[in-house]
Amino acid sequence: MRIATAELIRELDRRTIEEVGIPGAVLMENAGRGATRVLREQFQNLQEGPVVLVCGGGNNGGDGFVIARCLHEAGIESEVFLLAAPDRIRGDARIYFDALDGTDVPVRLLKDEGISEDVLRRWQGASCIVDAIFGTGLARPVEGLYRKAIEAIEAARRPVFAVDLPSGICADTGKVLGTAVRAECTATFGLPKRGLYLYPGAGHAGRITCVDIGIPERLLDELGVREEIFEPASLVHWLRREPDTHKGTYGHLFVLSGSLGKTGAACLCSESALRCGAGLVTLGIPKTLNPVMEQKLTEVMTLPLPAGKDETLSSGGLEEIKEFASSVKGLAVGPGMGVNEETGHIVRALWVDVDRPMVWDADALTLLAGNPDLRGKQSAEIIVTPHPGEMGRLIDKPVTWVQENRVEAARSFAEQWGVVTVLKGARTLIAAPDGRLRINLTGNPGMAAGGMGDVLTGMIGAFLVQGMEAYDAASFAVWLHGAAGDLTARTLGPVGFLASEVMQSLPRQFRELLEEQECSPSD
Ligand SMILES: NC(=O)c1ccc[n+]([C@@H]2O[C@H](COP(=O)([O-])OP(=O)(O)OC[C@H]3O[C@@H](n4cnc5c(N)ncnc54)[C@H](OP(=O)(O)O)[C@@H]3O)[C@@H](O)[C@H]2O)c1
Repeated sequence: MRIATAELIRELDRRTIEEVGIPGAVLMENAGRGATRVLREQFQNLQEGPVVLVCGGGNNGGDGFVIARCLHEAGIESEVFLLAAPDRIRGDARIYFDALDGTDVPVRLLKDEGISEDVLRRWQGASCIVDAIFGTGLARPVEGLYRKAIEAIEAARRPVFAVDLPSGICADTGKVLGTAVRAECTATFGLPKRGLYLYPGAGHAGRITCVDIGIPERLLDELGVREEIFEPASLVHWLRREPDTHKGTYGHLFVLSGSLGKTGAACLCSESALRCGAGLVTLGIPKTLNPVMEQKLTEVMTLPLPAGKDETLSSGGLEEIKEFASSVKGLAVGPGMGVNEETGHIVRALWVDVDRPMVWDADALTLLAGNPDLRGKQSAEIIVTPHPGEMGRLIDKPVTWVQENRVEAARSFAEQWGVVTVLKGARTLIAAPDGRLRINLTGNPGMAAGGMGDVLTGMIGAFLVQGMEAYDAASFAVWLHGAAGDLTARTLGPVGFLASEVMQSLPRQFRELLEEQECSPSD
């Protein structure tokens, strides 16, 4: 599903009005009518009290006026509370404000009376509060009367329905600008806005329904909408297998992972690759740790390599590593491999010389952060999978900045370094070097636990060696990783499950996905 920023939706509106010839007032009528339909579907109790509509002075408020009129037509009592002076209401919103004169919908001007006890009581008696204060036009932090109105909506403790966006949420970043409405559901217009899916905005939007207001599909293609909520349907065929295939068909992954105290990362990463269908997996490990790995791993092969300091890989093994890398389809590098001069030397050489697709994670990213000169010097498609702390190190910014600017951080790193960038966290982002961006909706807070990232790295590696393009391999693995986590949480409980349990639920997750798509691995 494609999504939009405020600027993009403005451009889509403009072209629909000017080039296609659909008047703005028709778009607003479509928006308001569609929102009313969603409101009536989502809230069954609208006859139990008046629907309170809190409206701003822009077009979002205009949508609110249309909703009030549509409710009136449907015999549902409503009351409009206006936060802007009527003489400031212009354009299409003005048309629908004036149209309320032909109804008996009461309009109260809060601009003059403020949020009195009486107003609050009215809101407390509402069946539902419709928030039509700000949409994509919110331009600065919410203050004054607007802030008080949003606080009073919260204080009224009634179900809230947001028009286009919960007021106070930035359409592009999901940030709360001052304060924001918390909605039970949101009807958004044309295309869902990006900020509805990014935290904290995602926590304010509730259930999201997109209303078609008449923007032609071809305009989305012409404008090259490059952002979407990732959906796996187009990649599910990768899970289907022809009968006359063998392990060689599904690629060989070389995993460089693990050091003293971090053998678990190596196990999770390499076993997850097998769980995601890689034909063969070889784990390159410091020789001294090989006996442990031989015990822990059964299906994964090991390549014992010269050990250096602290039982990490020694740079003396570099030629052997490179030679082995040239015999496989792809590499997964980094989980628990240790950060020191020797591993630094190894990853530098891999970045520049290895011409197989690779996924880089964890310690490999910390080592990369110390080597800004490597930018653009890779010989293959590379996917990096930083968590916010690692991203902060890579771009030399505090983690708080990364979290507040997740899209910018992921996208600019992908573009500048020429790598697919997976910025992990609630609503993981996948950014391609050419500007495409996907938001992932699967996953749950029970997955905030050690080892989950190692599993993801192995999963991405598995899809790379099966021949998937890097952007798709990263997106598919991220989606499946979250979905398998959701399945594990449903089966075992919301907290306390292990990364290895998420890994073990992958085959069941594949079966569920294939069944949903009405096909099976063998047909
Ligand atoms: N084609 C259409 O007409 C169409 C189609 C579909 C949907 N829509 C609706 O239109 C909305 C966008 O309308 P819009 O561009 O007019 O923007 P808006 O979201 O309605 O907000 C703009 C209004 O809010 C004010 N404002 C912005 N930030 C403020 C703040 N922090 N405090 C106080 N006032 C503030 C602006 O005043 P200042 O001028 O002082 O900044 C302006 O009056 C969409 O979200 C959607 O709901 C329109």
